[in-house]
Amino acid sequence: MKPLSLALLLNGLLTFCVFLSAQPLSDVEIDKKVDALLSRMTLEEKIGQMTQFAGINEKYEGLIKAGKIGSLLNVTGAANANAAQKIAVEDSRLGIPLILGFDVIHGYRTIFPIPLAEASSWDPGLAERTSKVAALEASAAGVEWTFAPMVDIARDPRWGRIAEGSGEDPYLGSLIAAARVRGFQGNDLSDPSTVVACVKHYVGYGAAEAGRDYNTVDMSRRTLRSIYLPPFHAAVEAGVGTLMSAFNDLNGVPASANWFTLTEVLRNEWGFKGFVVSDWNSVLELIAHGFAADRAEAAKLAVYAGVDMDMEGNVYLQQLPDLVKSGQVPEPEVDKAVREILRIKYKAGLFDHPYVDPQREKQDILSPSNLEVALEAARKSIVLLKNQNDLLPLSKNIRSLALVGPLADDSHAPLGPWAGQGNAGDVVTVMAGLKKKVPNLTLNYAKGCEVIGGTNSGFAEAVQAVKSSDAAVVVLGEAADMSGEAASRSVLDIPGLQPDLLKALAETGKPLVLVLMNGRPLTIDWAAENIPAIVETWFLGVRAGDAIADVLFGDYNPGAKLPVTFPRSVGQIPIYYNHLSTGRPAFGNERFTSRYLDVANTPLFPFGYGLSYTRFEYSNLQLSSPTIGMKDTLKVTAQVRNTGQRAGDEVVQLYIQDIYASVSQPVRELKRFQRLTLAPGETKTVEFELSSEDLRFWNQEMKFAAEPGKFNLWVGGNSTDGLEASFMLQ
Ligand code: BGC
Repeated sequence: MKPLSLALLLNGLLTFCVFLSAQPLSDVEIDKKVDALLSRMTLEEKIGQMTQFAGINEKYEGLIKAGKIGSLLNVTGAANANAAQKIAVEDSRLGIPLILGFDVIHGYRTIFPIPLAEASSWDPGLAERTSKVAALEASAAGVEWTFAPMVDIARDPRWGRIAEGSGEDPYLGSLIAAARVRGFQGNDLSDPSTVVACVKHYVGYGAAEAGRDYNTVDMSRRTLRSIYLPPFHAAVEAGVGTLMSAFNDLNGVPASANWFTLTEVLRNEWGFKGFVVSDWNSVLELIAHGFAADRAEAAKLAVYAGVDMDMEGNVYLQQLPDLVKSGQVPEPEVDKAVREILRIKYKAGLFDHPYVDPQREKQDILSPSNLEVALEAARKSIVLLKNQNDLLPLSKNIRSLALVGPLADDSHAPLGPWAGQGNAGDVVTVMAGLKKKVPNLTLNYAKGCEVIGGTNSGFAEAVQAVKSSDAAVVVLGEAADMSGEAASRSVLDIPGLQPDLLKALAETGKPLVLVLMNGRPLTIDWAAENIPAIVETWFLGVRAGDAIADVLFGDYNPGAKLPVTFPRSVGQIPIYYNHLSTGRPAFGNERFTSRYLDVANTPLFPFGYGLSYTRFEYSNLQLSSPTIGMKDTLKVTAQVRNTGQRAGDEVVQLYIQDIYASVSQPVRELKRFQRLTLAPGETKTVEFELSSEDLRFWNQEMKFAAEPGKFNLWVGGNSTDGLEASFMLQ
């Protein structure tokens, strides 16, 4: 063993013992330490704390030694992380540890379903557990800070980053945002198995015009506050340590220099205690936005607005010293930022244990229990979109099954975009999952075509495979890099020749099951019409094939629901369930109403939708009172019965509508939900409580308040049905 690694090992052991005995520092103690340290720092060292670079090289090593880098991103692996930390801790004048960041979006090495998939589980507790495992693995590899959760509301599936968030609804998105923060950060940030979370991208990033990544965002402050800000607020309330400012401009002011969002809302209204990091180079991009004249102005505007750390832009490090010396940026502005950064470093325990115990990598990463959580998450994220005549689940007694499609034996796609240190070698493909599940089944595999491009030369073989089998599973969709960052699409069909392949296979008349892998809602109207069974699996992570096989053969009954609307055509976008009423709602074929000549207004599959192998019947919706006062609680109960032959999960959803108000309100808004498991024949009573707090909205004066009047309420299995009642708020 090399002396360095022995020293690190001993240090790790020591840290562990210290951790066992140590109490986390109180806020007052931390503030004292921060002030003491700050008073010893030179201006250059302070600005160093506000500087983050990606990777490590000789130049950065020199800068770390000089105290001119406070954070690195993308340095992972215990050995690399410890080596970088050692320079900061042992070779820099003040020994301030780095904070090492990495994008742990849906798992570090054990890759979980993409966030949009996991949101389909409608199970915030699950999101908390997968984040906890992700934190355990990432921290074992020296990662101290994750750039997650991504909580951008997205109403536009053309935008590829819809894959990274929780979909279109602010309420579901808020619960998941808070759950992920709790999962990453735990109860005590100084616990070495936690990581600091970073809620992103603040704010409005998901509303990029035309769904094109990084594009302009223009929206009313009311929409901003009602739809886009709530998940960030929820993350702040859950104690998130950091926040990332977005690339986009918001109503003309770039999000990375937006005083209104970064200071007025975040700090003054919400009382955020933590630091803000820019997105990659987004401070420098203020120039490209046409918002800053030059680098110096970019630095000045970003600091003033409240961006504490410059990710990879090299603008703060280069520009701030002179700006401060010349009095253009008062030093207290710099101190404010540095204080927040140091505070998080203390809170994360980095001063006490800057190094990670290298043993942890072997024991904490890809462990059997982590893989178990990945399987559970994958199963719970699968949405059954169609199941005509109960084609699914397939019988384990069928003799032969065709397995067709470019993603049927693909080990890359299930990892999805932003897959941390995910490794295709860890992935159970659909083919592998089916073979494990039904070892004696004859599987007639044919790839058919590529995901994108290529020719139809494989069609004949695929058609033959289907013809010679009892049934067929066709696995189609997007490659992993077709969603995520910089992956906007203008056509949302299943890409390439895959739709033609599907049509050719359908002509055989054999029972077809379409298994989709994709990072966004696709326009699948032809398939929805013509293919008897459709299973939406998104990108499910390392256990994808196991979970899909469980669902196809009935060992797991799917219970997930869409967290986002599926359009019929791209022209309907943006399409989302919680839209406002119009003066001329569509009415049949009435011409002068708000509708299209060539497509219905309705989605192909609505928000909250998903089937099960069993059926659920709702009955007996009751409200505790027809009228409530501003201080009362309304109890809502309903009965849900599993009328089928199998146990299954139902996500019971409660929606309201404020029928008339001083500002038009959505036709429906999700207010509560609960995922239940019901045995065959079992009935459960669900109970929800609402108060006037849940009925608040941003009124004409931009105050968040409820108004007396009549409300509709639904309890049901998706955003377009349910038992209906109404009540008055007095
Ligand atoms: C992305 C962020 C990410 C950052 C660091 C940027 O391009 O927008 O989401 O956290 O890179 O990798």
